[in-house]
Amino acid sequence: MNLMDKIISLTKRRGFIFPNSEIYGGLANSFDYGPLGVELKNNIKKLWWDMFVTERDDIYGIDSAIIYNAKVWEASGHLKNFTDMLSDCKKCKARFRPDKLDNPKICPNCKGELSKPRQFNTMLKTFLGPVEDSANTNYIRPETAQGMFVNFKNIIDSFYPDVPFGMAQIGKAFRNEITPGNFIFRTREFEQMEIEYFIQEKDWEKSFEYWLEQMKKWMKKIGISEKNLVFKKIKDNDRAHYSKRTIDINYKFPFKTDELYGLAYRTDYDLKNHSKASGVNLEYRDKNTGESFLPHVIEPTFGVDRTMLAILLESYYEEKIGEETRIVLKLPNELAPIKIAILPLIKKNALLIKLAKKIYNNLKTKTNAEYDDNGTIGKRYRRHDEIGTPKCVTVDFDSLKDNTVTERYRDSMKQKRIPIKDIEKIII
Ligand code: GAP
Repeated sequence: MNLMDKIISLTKRRGFIFPNSEIYGGLANSFDYGPLGVELKNNIKKLWWDMFVTERDDIYGIDSAIIYNAKVWEASGHLKNFTDMLSDCKKCKARFRPDKLDNPKICPNCKGELSKPRQFNTMLKTFLGPVEDSANTNYIRPETAQGMFVNFKNIIDSFYPDVPFGMAQIGKAFRNEITPGNFIFRTREFEQMEIEYFIQEKDWEKSFEYWLEQMKKWMKKIGISEKNLVFKKIKDNDRAHYSKRTIDINYKFPFKTDELYGLAYRTDYDLKNHSKASGVNLEYRDKNTGESFLPHVIEPTFGVDRTMLAILLESYYEEKIGEETRIVLKLPNELAPIKIAILPLIKKNALLIKLAKKIYNNLKTKTNAEYDDNGTIGKRYRRHDEIGTPKCVTVDFDSLKDNTVTERYRDSMKQKRIPIKDIEKIII
C-alpha cells in the first residue's frame, strides 16, 4: 500500500474522514469528517485563529454569509475570469483540464483525440427563490475573500483601524472543479482560512515578504517540514486575474508537488471594483494626514483540508516491534484530537472501572480526554497510537492500593508511575 492509501485507510478505519453518501455508493471526491477528523480540523482552525486574530491587535475576524449579492461576482471579476480550460475526449468522453496535461490534444486514458479547449466557469450556480430564471441566478462563493472586501467599510466605520490592518475569515468555499481528486486535496467543497491585509501601495513589497515569513512560522508551528516545501513564483500569464504577484507554497504530496497555500498581492483591484460597481466610496481616510486613498491588499490564503492532509502525511509513522508493525500519528500536541486517554487495565473489574471513570470525569472538563475500555490494553494502546493521543493513563490493581497510575507516552512508549493527584499536571 502506498502512503496515500495508508492515510485514507487509517482515517476511515479510525473515524477521521469518511466518503460522503457512502450508503448510496458515494459522491465522487466528496468527504465527511468524523468525530476525530472534526476535532483535528477544529484544532487547526483554533490554532490559526489564535495566531492570526486573537494574538494580534491589527486583524479583525469576521464570518460572512456564503451566498452574497450576485453583483459581488460581477464586480470581483469572477463571473468573467474565474474559469478553467476544459477539453473532452471524443472517444471515451472523459473531461480534462488541458493546461494540466503533458499533451493537451491526446486523452491520457484512451489516447483518443481531445476536443478544442473551451472556457468553463468554476463557480457553483444556484437560484434564490422559487423561479429558476436569470434574475434569481446566484453563486456559492468560490473564495472567502470577497466577504471581507464587502465588509471593509463596516470594519472602518465600527473599529476605526489604522492602515495597515487586516481582516480574517475561516469558512467554506465551493468550486465546480473539472478534475477533482487525490482524497481531500481537491474537492468541490472545501474550507479556507484567509487574511486580507490592507496596506499603503508603497509598502507592498515589504508587506509581501513579512507575510511570507508569517506563513513559514505557521507551517513550522503545525509540524510541516521545510524539506517538503517548494516556493513557486507564479508567472505573469498563470496568475489569478486579481494578482500582480503570487507565490504558491507547494507541498511534496506523494501524488504530486502541488499547491498547499498561496500568497498574492491583490493591489487595490477588489476595493476599486467594488467601489465602482456599488457606488459606495471605499476609500480609507488617514486620521493624521487627512489623506484619502484606496488601500492595497496582501492576501495569505490557507486551505484547511490541504493543511489536514499535509499534517497527516507528516505525522504518519510505522515502526517494527518484533513481528508487529506499530502505526503512530505523531501529531503535535495542540492538534491531537484526544489529549489523554484513561484506560482501566481490564473491563471486567467494577472497582477499576469506577476509579478510571472518576479520573476521566474530573479531566473531561479540563481537556479533551477519553475513557476507553474497549478490547485488550494492547489493542487500546495501538488505537491511541494510531489516532495520535499523546498520553495514556492506565488504571490497574496497584492503583486501588496506592493511588498511582501508569502514564504512557505515545512516541517513546515509555511508561512511568505517577500519583493520581498529579494527572492534572501532565495534561497538555
Ligand atoms: N482567495 C484566494 C484564493 O482563493 P486559491 O489559490 O484559489 O486562492 C486558496 O485558493 C487555497 O484554497 C489554496 O491554496 C488551497 O489550499 C485551497 N483550495 C483551493 N481549491 C481547493 C479545492 N478544490 N479543494 C481543496 N482545497 C482547495
